[in-house]
Amino acid sequence: MIKAAAARARSNIALVKYWGKANGTLNVPAVGSISITLDALRSDTEVVFDPALETDELVLDGEPRPDGLVRVSACLDILRELAGIGTRAAVVSRNNFPTGAGLASSASGFAALVGAAARALGLELSPRELSIIARRGSGSAARSIFGGFVEMHAGNARDGLDSYAEPLLPGKEWPLHVVVAVTSTGEKAVASGSGMRHSARSSPYYAAWLQTHPGDMALCRQAIRTRDFDALAEIAEASCLKMHAAAMAAVPALIYWNGTTVECINRIRQLRMSGLPVLFTVDAGPQVKAVCTPDARAAVRDALAAMPGVVEIIETGLGPGLETHECAS
Ligand code: DP6
Repeated sequence: MIKAAAARARSNIALVKYWGKANGTLNVPAVGSISITLDALRSDTEVVFDPALETDELVLDGEPRPDGLVRVSACLDILRELAGIGTRAAVVSRNNFPTGAGLASSASGFAALVGAAARALGLELSPRELSIIARRGSGSAARSIFGGFVEMHAGNARDGLDSYAEPLLPGKEWPLHVVVAVTSTGEKAVASGSGMRHSARSSPYYAAWLQTHPGDMALCRQAIRTRDFDALAEIAEASCLKMHAAAMAAVPALIYWNGTTVECINRIRQLRMSGLPVLFTVDAGPQVKAVCTPDARAAVRDALAAMPGVVEIIETGLGPGLETHECAS
């Protein structure tokens, strides 16, 4: 019997970054992280378990992507085992933003995949269980199960079952905005997972990154609890720069930025010094994400849109967590 369902999940950006793995097989992160879920950056995914299929299939943004199947099938295998079936699945997923350019398409993608597949199989899993399974696809995907402000716990159980995300604060309690300055739309050179492994192996700063991370988490939680934008800016920018410093000090160096990335960072720092509540963060790619209060949004957008080298601006508020629905197949 064919079993099908669909899901929508949103991308997220980390304010305190995940960089490093404690267990590569189970994809358990070496550190916790804190993120915000973005309303406008979405993956819509349909999963059809079909007895006629001999292997799993993946179509991403209209293109067959056999290269992505290892991680997709790993997530599907966990769900198939829970459901007690072996049926292969066809996965069709679409992102409404550039794939693989450092806009966390794997976060929304794996959250939507796990949500749609679990629903298709009739599994009644809690958001926490979905988060644990989504983590196996991509660490950041564990956070996209939830909306608003989200904390990912690294956990320390050998089986990874205490490594999941959970909501910290609903987005409407502190409705920040995000302006993404896209500085390049090409796929990134080094995927985050390989970048983390390379940093852990060869960066002299990786140990310091691990050592100082719990303090960063505590400061960020506190800034969110008290809605203290200046404190949030200080800790989010520090975590971002520390992650990139660890990557840049790896041998050979991992530099995710281009010239426009640096110019945008400088511009955002200037804007904050002139009194605008805005902070920057950058992930494993050259895009700059400016997080600001709603009243600062227009000024931040205009300033970043005017930067030479910015090819596109994406604006978004904070969004909800995973949504699933039946589909006709
Ligand atoms: C820089 O979740 O993409 O965006 O678990 O290997 O799939 P894998 O890594 P991924 O890493 C995200 C890294 C980051 C920081 C963050 O989102 O916390």
